[in-house]
Amino acid sequence: MASITMNWSLLTWTNTTLAILSSLLLLYWYIRIPNDMPKNIPTIPIYISIMGLWSEMGQDDIYDKWLRPPLEKHGAVKIWFAGRWNILATKPKLLVDMFRHEDIYAKAGSQKKIPWSVIASLVGDNIINAHGENWKLYTSIMKPGLQRRITDSFPLLMKCRRFVDVLLDEQKNIDARGDARGDGGGVLVNPIIQRWALSCMGINFMNVDLECLEKPNQRLEQLQSIIKKTLFKPLFFNFPDLDRYPTLFPQRKRAFQIMQEFGDLLVETVSNRTMTTDADGSQVVDGLEKALKEGIITTEQYRANLKVTFLTAHENAQQLLNSAIWVLGTNTKIQEKLRSEIQSLISIPTGTAAGGTGTASNPNPTTDQINSLPYLYAVILELLRLYPPVSQLINRVSTSNTILGGEVSIPNHTWVGWNAFGVHTDPNIWGTDARIFRPERWGTEVKNIHGNVRSKTVQCHFIAFNAHSRKCLGQGFAVLQMKIVLFEFVRRVSWIVDPGYELKLTSGGIMAPLGLKAIMREIPQDGSVDGVSGHDIAAETDNQQPC
Ligand code: HEM
Ligand SMILES: *[C@@H]1O[C@H](CO)[C@@H](O)[C@H](O)[C@H]1NC(C)=O
Ligand SMILES: *[C@@H]1O[C@H](CO)[C@@H](O)[C@H](O)[C@H]1NC(C)=O
Repeated sequence: MASITMNWSLLTWTNTTLAILSSLLLLYWYIRIPNDMPKNIPTIPIYISIMGLWSEMGQDDIYDKWLRPPLEKHGAVKIWFAGRWNILATKPKLLVDMFRHEDIYAKAGSQKKIPWSVIASLVGDNIINAHGENWKLYTSIMKPGLQRRITDSFPLLMKCRRFVDVLLDEQKNIDARGDARGDGGGVLVNPIIQRWALSCMGINFMNVDLECLEKPNQRLEQLQSIIKKTLFKPLFFNFPDLDRYPTLFPQRKRAFQIMQEFGDLLVETVSNRTMTTDADGSQVVDGLEKALKEGIITTEQYRANLKVTFLTAHENAQQLLNSAIWVLGTNTKIQEKLRSEIQSLISIPTGTAAGGTGTASNPNPTTDQINSLPYLYAVILELLRLYPPVSQLINRVSTSNTILGGEVSIPNHTWVGWNAFGVHTDPNIWGTDARIFRPERWGTEVKNIHGNVRSKTVQCHFIAFNAHSRKCLGQGFAVLQMKIVLFEFVRRVSWIVDPGYELKLTSGGIMAPLGLKAIMREIPQDGSVDGVSGHDIAAETDNQQPC
């Protein structure tokens, strides 16, 4: 009897050992570094890549602690991400090579890398992640809409005005709930910013007024919050292989359903649209619809490109505005300097003919007037430098054995990527004050600021919008939209970050402060000519000569 029990336990013991050993072997096989990966650059230990699973650290802190030292020394590292080993680079010389040679470092997003995953089901094959013929096709259809010249920015300004109204109303509600001194705390800004970003995206790319500011909690808006949470769930973000088993993970099954619902609802919303601000049908949605009707693209390609436009055109701006409220709400000197530039643009001397000295203000500048403000422009560039929304991306794959920048030998079919936060905060590139928010570094006149952006982009010192062959096609719009919203917000609101708020950036994905709260005070506007029809005033002042 005893010997049988012994044998049994021995057997179980052996089985357990075998199970553990084979799991370890499997794990080793799963996370081993392929031996053809370059030897002359360091390896980031795997536990740092999966930090999100067990730590609450922000991506800036993670970068500073574990990535900055090897990257500033070697310019590139091997890093484990999304279930495999990749090359991540920050040295401009390597990036110029990567971005100029899209034939060798071919775009390959999640639709190629992890085609079974939730994120791939969300974005599909689209203008951002496609390569070769498909990319050329999508670009020919969408580029006119993406780069449409916005001569009349009034509709955008009206959305920004509504956004500020909503923020100030929210602050009033909080104050009313607070104690008699009216300091009940600050406004949680991100949910309202999201509604603003969705609205601006809608009127400019989808030719539809989604009315997210006017009518909160619409399903399309709710889905955005759910999607953003779902995609960056650390477990699935790090181990996309798990997405292969939706039956084992009911929450992933749910995630696939959410992505489907979003696609369906978006398609229905745009096909129902009645608003035609653009009678010439020159928006992105119009181009895509036409191409679908003509049979140039499939329904799947139509959906993928519609969804990616919807997502990319609102989310980056959303997060950049969160960062703006953080930075200017902690550096009130910069906020005040910006406000005085804005006020000098809008104040119109009145009664000068009669020898008076009064001023009124014109709150409805034209696109050209908005574009004439150098400090506003520089503040936005500095935000993009220190808080690049797309802070890291690994979505290119080598198409042959190659040597990146003549320095790092890369095997065929290896994923390569970049980290913009690292490039933008490297003192070797930006000087010893690289970490300081100093808009003046971009220049003091619009013309030389433009020149700086261009040359720094070409050199890959500034890659917030990427560079060279696959740079952002929405850059012009994004910058204009940020100028208009900051114009309106800074003009009407003086704010500080809620003293109870402690900065924490997202741990991965789009870079932004999490859960930011700001205390806002409305600035009284003197002698505003707001009451008169806004549009006309913009047109009139445009022709006004300085006397
Ligand atoms: C602050 C706002 C924005 C930032 C920081 C940003 C950043 C970027 C970055 C880093 C890329 C390169 C992506 C990659 O390498 O895979 C990119 C590409 C792209 N962006 Fe933006 N973007 C912004 C706004 C927009 C807007 C408003 C649109 C309008 C729909 C847009 C449309 C695109 C498109 C179509 C591409 C792909 C270009 C190509 O591959 O040919 N972006 N953007
Ligand atoms: C689209 O229009 C149809 C018919 O009027 C309506 O039933 C449906 O609810 C609309 N869908 C959306 C998303 O607006
Ligand atoms: C590189 O790898 C890809 C995919 O594995 C393969 O199709 C291609 O032929 C390879 N290219 C070269 C030059 O070996």
